[in-house]
Amino acid sequence: MQVGIDQIGFYTPNKYVDMVDLAHARNEDPNKFLIGIGQNKMSVADQTQDAVSMGINATLRYLDQIARERVGLLIVGTESSVDQSKSASLFIKSALALPANVRTFEVKEACFGMTAGIMIARDYVRLHPHHSAIVIGSDIARYGVNTGGEVTQGAGSISMLIKADPQILAINNGHSSHSEDINDFWRPNDSAVAVVDGKYSKNVYLDFFKQTFTAYRKQTGIKTSDFTALLYHLPFVKMGFKANEWAITAQDEKTKKHLTENFTAAARYGKEVGNIYTASLYLSLLSLLENAKLPANAKIGLFSYGSGAMGEFYSGQIVKGYEKNLHTNADQKMIARRQKLTIPEYEKIFNQALESPQDNLELQSDEQTGTWYFAGTKNRIRQ
Ligand code: HMG
Repeated sequence: MQVGIDQIGFYTPNKYVDMVDLAHARNEDPNKFLIGIGQNKMSVADQTQDAVSMGINATLRYLDQIARERVGLLIVGTESSVDQSKSASLFIKSALALPANVRTFEVKEACFGMTAGIMIARDYVRLHPHHSAIVIGSDIARYGVNTGGEVTQGAGSISMLIKADPQILAINNGHSSHSEDINDFWRPNDSAVAVVDGKYSKNVYLDFFKQTFTAYRKQTGIKTSDFTALLYHLPFVKMGFKANEWAITAQDEKTKKHLTENFTAAARYGKEVGNIYTASLYLSLLSLLENAKLPANAKIGLFSYGSGAMGEFYSGQIVKGYEKNLHTNADQKMIARRQKLTIPEYEKIFNQALESPQDNLELQSDEQTGTWYFAGTKNRIRQ
């Protein structure tokens, strides 16, 4: 039985910062951000969009097309959680009107969280083939105004339905994992922004990719040239580009060409949206699906990395007719609808996010009608 991704939904907030504006404001050469980092824009979430609302909005993209009563599992991977105790997934479950017998919880291991959810969901569906699972990654990347990491921020969510006989990507058996207790990036409980050792984090990311990709090929006998595309967690586009360059070294010209072209297609959305932590690898998958033409059964490799750190490589096969299950126009319109912020406007929104909103204060959203948003708390209960 094949199990894998049947539906994909995407949401990103309605505001962005242009990297050229940011470079000018920080006295940097714009080419450092555009070429050196590889980013054009980054999405910005105001106070009314958080991990919960973005996860709901991403899932709404396909909710009408699925059998809700068959959803037996709902997992949310996030490192932007709204509560230390109650799972973000319970708020989402309620908004989506999922059945009361759904098993639901939140998982955390930095950007690896959504991959952890997908692997749990795959194994669950194998045991319960008549049930499906929703897995969501939803995050806001915040490093701070005028910090080295500022250019690598972003906000958004990806939601997926995992089921038997999937219509988009069948997940292959096998994976290779690597974990180490290290301090490259983390966010202490008393901090709204991440603490990061940027240069070290780049080295560890590459090291984990080399280890897991090498081990996976050894374990499965699959060659680099067998892959139609290699997808990466994209904290910023240049990071994945470096991993891809390593992967294609010593390959023939044909392999180099298609892995480079498909990397570019996979990076298209991330370049505009920025880092969305747990969902970033899956935004690359969506970008590939919606910007490249893939033959049925094409083999896709996926490298997931979560700081702290956990790396995993696995693969899947494209299902014939996958394009019928995509929402390409709607996804591209969502990216295009965002309004540009001036740098002072962005800084104001950023500083608001560092303060906890007062209780019993009603927040107003300027999102389009039909979009869920966080409206504040009443008696410390989220609305
Ligand atoms: P920085 O120190 O400001 O930048 O921070 P830099 O000096 O390293 O320059 C960046 C690149 O721009 C360099 O290229 C420069 O040469 C180039 P590279 O050496 O890397 O090839 N450059 C130029 N290029 C063209 N024209 C110019 C120019 N000037 C310079 N004029 C850093 C960069 C990424 C460290 C910083 O933004 C940061 O700390 N970001 C956050 C950490 C991060 O994203 N790490 C990635 C790996 S860890 C990860 O992926 C996990 C994560 O998603 C979290 C999680 O798991 O939850 C972050």
